[in-house]
Amino acid sequence: MLEARGAVRSLKEYHPPLGGRVGLRLDFNENTVGCSPRVLERLRQLQFDQLARYPERESVERLVASHWGVDPAGLLLTNGVDEAIHLICETYLDPGDEVLIVVPTFSMYEIYAAATGAQVITISAGADFSYPTDEVLARISPRTRLIAIANPNNPTGTVVSKSDLLRILRAAPAAAVLADEAYFDFYGESMLPEVASHPNLFVARTFSKAYGLAGLRIGVLAGNATQMAMVRRVSSPYNVNAVALACLPEALADQEYVRQYVAEVRQGREQLQQELRSLKLRFWPSQANFVLVHIGERHDAFVNVMRDRGILVRDRSRDPGCDGCVRISVGSNAQTEQLIAALREPVHSIATTGVPA
Ligand SMILES: Cc1ncc(COP(=O)(O)O)c(C=O)c1O
Repeated sequence: MLEARGAVRSLKEYHPPLGGRVGLRLDFNENTVGCSPRVLERLRQLQFDQLARYPERESVERLVASHWGVDPAGLLLTNGVDEAIHLICETYLDPGDEVLIVVPTFSMYEIYAAATGAQVITISAGADFSYPTDEVLARISPRTRLIAIANPNNPTGTVVSKSDLLRILRAAPAAAVLADEAYFDFYGESMLPEVASHPNLFVARTFSKAYGLAGLRIGVLAGNATQMAMVRRVSSPYNVNAVALACLPEALADQEYVRQYVAEVRQGREQLQQELRSLKLRFWPSQANFVLVHIGERHDAFVNVMRDRGILVRDRSRDPGCDGCVRISVGSNAQTEQLIAALREPVHSIATTGVPA
């Protein structure tokens, strides 16, 4: 009988709750108002021959590279950051290699790494989900081949300082260090300028969040040109579809749209955190477009009541160290008002309050 590889058979299944998402979508950290109108206009103008041809990635890669001021030879467009993570794992991991991740974090690092047969070593985050840099440094061994770091982290919204990331990079020259900057736009600090001087650094960015293009599946992986030539060998030449490639230049050109959306999210994040503080709920100050909140034992009832009130939020209580926690994405100002008005009553009747942040 045909059997999948052992490493695949022992993978945990990952089923994000995508079915029937009706209401205000504050459950997947997406953009909640839609992409730039320039992207929609471009979509309307697509001609049949653009769909009939295989997509050509290079010219758009050059555009993104010049927009971010990096060497085009070191930049690859990917089918979302998910694919960037997958490609890094395929390029660098052999069975038995070690991968370091600090949990809780984004699930796909563990899934793609474990699928190669590598050993995933999970290190628990420190107090208040701080990044335990010294513990990570202590766990680096000659077998360490990948250290994946979401910065800001999902689901906590916490960040690692640049100086700590540089310490890790220097301590593990034979490991790929992936700085996953999916939420960069809401934070503002980046490792991208360090790519030129650190050959083991990779930076991933996405257009799924601030740019509102999660459905198009488009992300970026940047790294040292020699290393990226290896990553390209693993990648399909057609990994990014023609529709995404046609739209990306418009999305990038409309920086005013992104600036406006990000400003609203940052403002909403502060407003939500202020509200949580006054409701005496524990939460972790976030640098991303979501906030992790401790609801307590009845976290699932809270998620259900919020759904009944037309707002989708994400139960994260099964993530390591997140017992009783729910993650709430932040959208526009009006949506934040709607969220705050909807959550007060369920917080009083359901949540375990009295634990200040
Ligand atoms: C930290 C992190 N990285 C990557 C992704 C996936 O991004 P993309 O949509 O570009 O695959 C997410 C999505 O939630 C995320 O939270």
